[in-house]
Amino acid sequence: MKKTYLTRLLTICLVAAGLFVKAQIVTIPVETQHNALVLQTDAQKNLKMVYFGAKLNDAQEYAQIAKMYNPNDDSGVLDDAYTPSGSANLAEPAITVTHADGSKSLDLHYISHNVSKIDDNVSLLTVILKDPAYPFEVKLCYKTFFKEDVTEQWSVIIHNEKGVVTLNKFASANLNLKADGFWLKQYHGNWALEMRPEESKLTHGIKTIDSKLGTRANLYQPSMFTVSMDKPATEDEGKVLLGAMEWSGNFREDFELSPEPSNYLRLIAGINNAAAEYHLKPGQEFVTPALVYTYSSRGTGDASRNMHRWARKYKLVDGEGQRLTLLNNWEATYFDFNETKLAQLLKDTKKLGTDLFLLDDGWFGNSHPRNADNAGLGDWQENKLKLPNGIGWLVKEAQANGVKFGIWIEPEMVNPASDLYKTHPDWIIKESGRPEKYFRNQLVLDLTNPKVQDFVFGVVDNLFTKNPDLAYIKWDCNAVIYNAHSQYLKKDQSHLYTDYVRGLYKVLDRVRAKYPKVPLMLCSGGGGRVDYGALKYFTEYWPSDNTDPLERIFIQWEYSYFFPAIASSNHVTDWGRQPIKFRVDVAMMGKIGFDIVVSKLSEKELAFCRQALTNYDGVKDVIWHGDQYRLQNPWTNDAASLMYVNDARSKAVVFNYLVNNRYGAGTKVPIRFKGLDAQKKYSVKEINLYPGSKPVVDNNLVYTGDFLMNVGINPQISAYHTSVVMQLDAMN
Ligand code: DGJ
Repeated sequence: MKKTYLTRLLTICLVAAGLFVKAQIVTIPVETQHNALVLQTDAQKNLKMVYFGAKLNDAQEYAQIAKMYNPNDDSGVLDDAYTPSGSANLAEPAITVTHADGSKSLDLHYISHNVSKIDDNVSLLTVILKDPAYPFEVKLCYKTFFKEDVTEQWSVIIHNEKGVVTLNKFASANLNLKADGFWLKQYHGNWALEMRPEESKLTHGIKTIDSKLGTRANLYQPSMFTVSMDKPATEDEGKVLLGAMEWSGNFREDFELSPEPSNYLRLIAGINNAAAEYHLKPGQEFVTPALVYTYSSRGTGDASRNMHRWARKYKLVDGEGQRLTLLNNWEATYFDFNETKLAQLLKDTKKLGTDLFLLDDGWFGNSHPRNADNAGLGDWQENKLKLPNGIGWLVKEAQANGVKFGIWIEPEMVNPASDLYKTHPDWIIKESGRPEKYFRNQLVLDLTNPKVQDFVFGVVDNLFTKNPDLAYIKWDCNAVIYNAHSQYLKKDQSHLYTDYVRGLYKVLDRVRAKYPKVPLMLCSGGGGRVDYGALKYFTEYWPSDNTDPLERIFIQWEYSYFFPAIASSNHVTDWGRQPIKFRVDVAMMGKIGFDIVVSKLSEKELAFCRQALTNYDGVKDVIWHGDQYRLQNPWTNDAASLMYVNDARSKAVVFNYLVNNRYGAGTKVPIRFKGLDAQKKYSVKEINLYPGSKPVVDNNLVYTGDFLMNVGINPQISAYHTSVVMQLDAMN
């Protein structure tokens, strides 16, 4: 009798406690300077993402948002902040697991959250979710950069089950957006065709952008995207989310428009789970890479400037520092060079006025000399015939000429025609039961293997140890992963794609620990590897092997939505049919370099290039560290126009290029400038004039910022003046 009474009392208490807990709705606003992402629990402790948009004046009102929506969603978890699968969810999940007991049912409930302030501008919110039925936990991490309106979001997965849990899907982020229609701008491409944009209205169902290439993941589809809300955003108007995965391997981004009447956009982004399930031991943490995103209600221009500021301050190596201009020999010599030729190129580097000479592919391999792209990769010893005195001699010779010396490597790869291939077949990613399949005659080394990581680190370390004055490295990566099999991973083959990238980052961590500031260019057979996961270790990237300046205007324009100009290595080459002035003017919108035969330049051409480099010295600080404004879009106009303005709004540079060859094409009306101070007066001067030519813009006039932004200047672009660069200086 007594026992029954006590049991009833206990039950009543538990139910009451349950009701009490149910009533606790927790609202977590994640705010930046202008925006807010709001998380909120429901009565069942599901964590929802209930708002994403402009910050509200009264933070108390965030709690009222959820009840304004009637999604008619039976599952109750359509707007989950990290959607599990196998329980209530009926949509694309963020996470799918197979528990140690074989069950595939996962539910995640809110447990707690914590905000830690990293500094005045950066905060980290962590939210802990747990499965009530299994010892399985996910930590959601939101790192916010207040002034820049940027968020990096990732997840940490851990469990304490009695055995291994398989992660079948393990996204970094799961966003829920609410709007009256969504427009996705995505990119596709190929070698020399990088960053082709496509924009379309998202329809119901799932649109997936992904990569399964293993390495040089961006070759066909980069992870960069923009989502416009309510209507397609323009440069200066509209609500837009701009994002990208910070991951240099296979990724997957699902954009799912949920059924009527909710019409939510569920964005789930992370490592691609295709053939990549991960086995997680009890107590082991799985940390996903981050999705980085920024939101603006003032168009793509504002959003991209947010991203640029963030990248310069927090991501790129030395993002607020200086860069070296250079002369590269790839297109000038390809594999055909020797010390005599290089000695001349070092002199040309000085003659041209660049800071550094970059020796490209072809300097290594002895039993398999690297005289073409089918031999030598993996054998990182100087070729004795081409360079009998080694790299040390070249570094000294460069110094004697008053320039610095840099070198090309591709340390992740191996040619079958190499000593490395013979001595370490176990270090190579390949399926022994199948014929080898090559991409550019090469195979990929197995970076999951710590010994291979040591080897790759050693390639860099040996170069710097032997040549402490080596000033620059171009890190290339030309092959994708075929026949994905690792001898090292044994039974965990599905870890290969993930652990390859982690292995790469371990190597790069070691490189940066020992050589924190040395400039490194991230190159990948053109622009196949441009992402913030890798750029954390690099000072710059190679956007494309396509250096035809006309093509580059479009390619650089599109990259510029996501990456700042200081990171864009733009080389003047012999691609295309444009005159040297046009080629130099285009390369100046970033970090300029040359890859031409200097001795073949006419006197006038050389004089022009030298003068342009002097002009560049005068404006590079604005291009590298200033704000970028895209003024006129090359896809829809005869002329492209864009400008850079420094923080003080006292100096700017404006680039204009003809992009259409039809009769009469050009600028018929003024181009309105942006980002200036309306109250200031600016002198406007055309720079980069070709010797003997007169400015098309009157160089003696002064205009107010007000005039320049409301009326503008006609750069007089036409078939006769295909590129015009203007420098603006505020008058005191
Ligand atoms: C591909 C790069 O994109 C080029 O710039 C050049 O370095 C070659 N590889 C060398 O093989």
